[in-house]
Amino acid sequence: QIKGFVFDLDGVITDTSLYHTKAWRQLAEKLGVTWTKTLEDGLKGISRMDSLEMILKAGNKENDYTQDEKVALATEKNTNYVNAIHQMTPANILPGIKAFLDDLRANGYLIALASASKNGPTVLKQLELTDYFPKIVDPATLSKGKPDPEIYVKGAEALDLDPTQCIGVEDAAAGIQAINGANETSIGIGDPDTLSAADIHFNDTSEMTLANIAKAMA
Ligand code: BG6
Ligand code: MG
Repeated sequence: QIKGFVFDLDGVITDTSLYHTKAWRQLAEKLGVTWTKTLEDGLKGISRMDSLEMILKAGNKENDYTQDEKVALATEKNTNYVNAIHQMTPANILPGIKAFLDDLRANGYLIALASASKNGPTVLKQLELTDYFPKIVDPATLSKGKPDPEIYVKGAEALDLDPTQCIGVEDAAAGIQAINGANETSIGIGDPDTLSAADIHFNDTSEMTLANIAKAMA
């Protein structure tokens, strides 16, 4: 029986995946790395430093920079990203998400956040959703990022639930892999091809309701 929900943030609760993409793309093109849809999708859910490595690898440039230079490049991307999120308001919450969170609360489900983003708490604050997420897995405590299951395992632990009692919600292939690896039920929101490994699929956040989830699990 499902008792808790563990949420990804970027691309699920809000449209920040657009801002991450924009900031990474700007950096990639500055470094002479060709931007592709495959690279864009592959970066979703991936930690800041892993994302940078993925971009450099795509341009065969992973050996062109020292570790200090890499940190500086990642910091440059983050500065652009942070500037973008400071303009966010509750209007940036994706369709149906606020109602879904209220419904979860009203029905006694526990809620946790399992975002790879170190900016997660700032984003929640901008969206005025901080109160909905009393449990947040701190990505700084992870030994491995998504697609490793660790973050979703810790999400279930934070709720004092067995993973099998949890549903994880993601927009990225790496995230679905993490949820499945943690032995939770996975919901994938977005492109059905990218998210083919999800137990339950919705095209859009507005389709994610308790009734639709119950129907999909029946
Ligand atoms: C994930 C995003 O949620 O967080 C990635 O999907 C992002 O695009 C990652 O790179 C890390 O975010 P941050 O804010 O710590 O750089
Ligand atoms: Mg995401």
